[in-house]
Amino acid sequence: MRVITELQLAHKRTFVRVDFNVPLAQGRVADATRIRAALPTIGYALEQKARVILASHLGRPKGQRLPQASLAPVATELAELLGQPVAFAPDCIGPEVEAMVESLAPGKVLLLENLRFHPGEEKNDPDFARALARLADVYVNDAFGTAHRAHASTVGMVAYVREKAAGLLMQRECEYLGKILHRPDRPLYAVLGGAKVSDKLAVLENLLRVVDGMLVGGAMAYTFLRARGVDVGSSRVEDDLVDTAARLMEQARSAGKVLLLPIDHRVSASIDGSAPVEVTSPGIPAGRYGVDIGPATERLFAAELKKARTAFWNGPMGIFEVEAFAHGTLSMVDALIDSGAVTVVGGGDSAAAVMRSGKADKISHVSTGGGATLEFLEGRTLPGLAALEG
Ligand code: 3PG
Repeated sequence: MRVITELQLAHKRTFVRVDFNVPLAQGRVADATRIRAALPTIGYALEQKARVILASHLGRPKGQRLPQASLAPVATELAELLGQPVAFAPDCIGPEVEAMVESLAPGKVLLLENLRFHPGEEKNDPDFARALARLADVYVNDAFGTAHRAHASTVGMVAYVREKAAGLLMQRECEYLGKILHRPDRPLYAVLGGAKVSDKLAVLENLLRVVDGMLVGGAMAYTFLRARGVDVGSSRVEDDLVDTAARLMEQARSAGKVLLLPIDHRVSASIDGSAPVEVTSPGIPAGRYGVDIGPATERLFAAELKKARTAFWNGPMGIFEVEAFAHGTLSMVDALIDSGAVTVVGGGDSAAAVMRSGKADKISHVSTGGGATLEFLEGRTLPGLAALEG
């Protein structure tokens, strides 16, 4: 896979697929993390005097031109971050956009309107892909968060552009996530949380093959605890996966790998934060929901992570959107930082928790991918990456 720094960009129409699928609130960008993450690539292309054309999707407008999914607020935010004007095209293909691209000067940026306003994007329609390719001398993909989608802008158009390369964010994501799967400094630990075992099953299975230790928290831990015969009260358990959880634990045990579950719990009679929080151990009494890992678990997990030289974390330890249930998740950020390991955080919620802690700069790499990060760690080939190869 070539990287943007290997291409001659001066004066070329450089089409950069970015992932600017960011949350909006009151017509403004509510979290610019993904935009900031693309700045090294955009900045590099501008320094090289490329004519930079940026394309992204936002939301899931399903081929409809929905005003609330317009990338216009992203153009405003990006202009502020870059400290230079960002022209905004009213569409992403067609004669008007082609004319805007033609008149784009070297060292200037044009952001196209939402790719998903056209049904051809998600269908990977060849005509739509060719229409996009008409805008480009060079194709760069920096949209790691969308690399698991085989769409026109991530796969289809690549065949119609002469030169292609990964952007700097794409390169960084592949380096850190690839290191976990293929060449970690050991011991390698994975901390997995989140609501459901079913969402994470493939990643659990694949990571269990490569890690030295795994720590399981969040609601998915209750399915594992049930498999161990621990009472979980009213907590969510995926009954159909209790046997699978037992098998995974047996797999870890027979491979001599550490697999730790919570030893105490923050519990409550309701999951919305309206009832008091208590700590119970080792199980959860009837009528109570597990809402977060307990303080002894926080200490246990932090102590175990001190052994790690590489640590990956995905999925919150509790219902961290509710302030009263966020302690375990925020403590995980500190445990990772204090571990001294190379730390990689993947996935929307855990990345959000890191941002909320204000300590993102102390984590080696916070992945911008949600589904893409998980699919990468499942060991699957991401179509957007495959398209850049060869
Ligand atoms: C994401 O936010 O995970 C990516 O931008 C992909 O979005 P999608 O799940 O709507 O394809």
